[in-house]
Amino acid sequence: MSASSASAPGRVNLLGEHTDYNDGFVLPTAIPQHTRVEVGPAPRFVLHALGRKTEFSLERAPEEQSAKYVYGCLRELQAAGFPVPPLEIRVESEVPMGVGLSSSAALEVATLRALRSYAGFELDDVKLAQLAQAAEVRHAGVRCGIMDQMASSLAEPGRMLFLDTRTLERRVLPMPEGTAIAVLDSGITRSLASSGYNERRAQCEDACRRLGVKALRDVTGVEALEELPDLLLRRARHVVTENARVLAALEADAPRFGELMDASHRSLREDYEVSTPEMDELVQRLRAQPGVFGARLTGAGFGGACVALCRAGTTRAAAEGALARYSGRGRLLVA
Ligand code: GLA
Repeated sequence: MSASSASAPGRVNLLGEHTDYNDGFVLPTAIPQHTRVEVGPAPRFVLHALGRKTEFSLERAPEEQSAKYVYGCLRELQAAGFPVPPLEIRVESEVPMGVGLSSSAALEVATLRALRSYAGFELDDVKLAQLAQAAEVRHAGVRCGIMDQMASSLAEPGRMLFLDTRTLERRVLPMPEGTAIAVLDSGITRSLASSGYNERRAQCEDACRRLGVKALRDVTGVEALEELPDLLLRRARHVVTENARVLAALEADAPRFGELMDASHRSLREDYEVSTPEMDELVQRLRAQPGVFGARLTGAGFGGACVALCRAGTTRAAAEGALARYSGRGRLLVA
């Protein structure tokens, strides 16, 4: 077999944060940056990524974190009945890492796409996203939902992917008319991201047990949450109202969409408590720029990136205006 290569984009989530592991709704879009993976025949498994060379076998997980994502994909393919021969794998990525734009999902999806074309596996884009998620959960130790892998596998830049994470029903929709997005890095490292993320998941599960529902998706009004203790009430209220915001966004024009993003940020800050003071400042500075309809943190939170919905043609000026006044060290990622 001769070498094959494939690429996959990172994603930015516009609305629907911390809803995917609650069987809820999400609204991501693809970013222009991609990860590219090339695979070719080799006597044993060799990975070249991030300037490092890692040799491994399918019997034992490699130590290095980025190698675990690739290893996980190969193991999940094998477990699904697709035979994986020894390979030389080369990874190059433009997707910013560690800021909440799913560089790991882009790596997983690009790896699986490259393998699909190399070995001719019959694997549709949804199944591919599911294998990518399983790779991350089982082999990279992150209990993520399905949003990032579905977005990397199925979203397009400049369009929104509406996804019901329970049924995997989805629709690709245009952005609100006359808009474009700006994505900025707050410069704050997501140090609590994995412990905080797992803690939020556990709190949602606790709320479900107390409410007697399968998932918070099944709660439609906040009145039903009144019996919960305060902390769980706030966590659950974020999820319930965030799902409603995603559904409202499907019909929204640009100003309304912006209001929904602002409300999402407030809810993530006050009820879900995954923002930081620096992120709040950057989001505030973005909102104050001409042409900005709304802004919010994006991804799991605890630092990382934020996204603004802007009038088309104003994204760069808005991003630069916000960064010039920001007291931290941010940077422009997409405009
Ligand atoms: C991370 C996870 C996703 C999702 C978001 C929060 O990106 O990988 O599955 O839960 O956080 O919305």
